[in-house]
Amino acid sequence: MTVPSAVAEQLRALLDRAHAPYSRVQVAAAVEGPDGEVHYGVNVENAAYPQGWCAEASAIGAAVSAGHKAIARVYVSSNLPELVWPCGGCRQKIFEFAQAGCEVVTLTPDGRTDSRTIEQLLPMGFRLDPTPHRS
Ligand code: THU
Repeated sequence: MTVPSAVAEQLRALLDRAHAPYSRVQVAAAVEGPDGEVHYGVNVENAAYPQGWCAEASAIGAAVSAGHKAIARVYVSSNLPELVWPCGGCRQKIFEFAQAGCEVVTLTPDGRTDSRTIEQLLPMGFRLDPTPHRS
């Protein structure tokens, strides 16, 4: 999987905007719609630890706020040397809006990447019928 250089650069730049004073793990994520529009977000931690949220949640919130609900691809990057995959809760958040076969791409600071489909990451994810944006 080749990550478009504009997306990789934006993710790298955004890591510094993460609010991660507790874990020091800075994460930036992007969600791409079927038309190619991309929305970004970072993790936002809180002194009351459970109140913090992940970069994927921020990116999904930005996309939905901009009127874009369908997700064709997700990118996740962090300041850790290893590949970071979305947590279980974020897999479900992605699943809510994911098109079939939605690709989740993870990138390291040194440019390694890997990807899986959302169905591989979250088999049998929960969906109401009809999920509102699909009706
Ligand atoms: N984190 C994300 O933002 N996305 C992920 O995919 C994994 C974890 C954040 C949550 C927390 O702020 C920090 O990384 C350490 O867990």
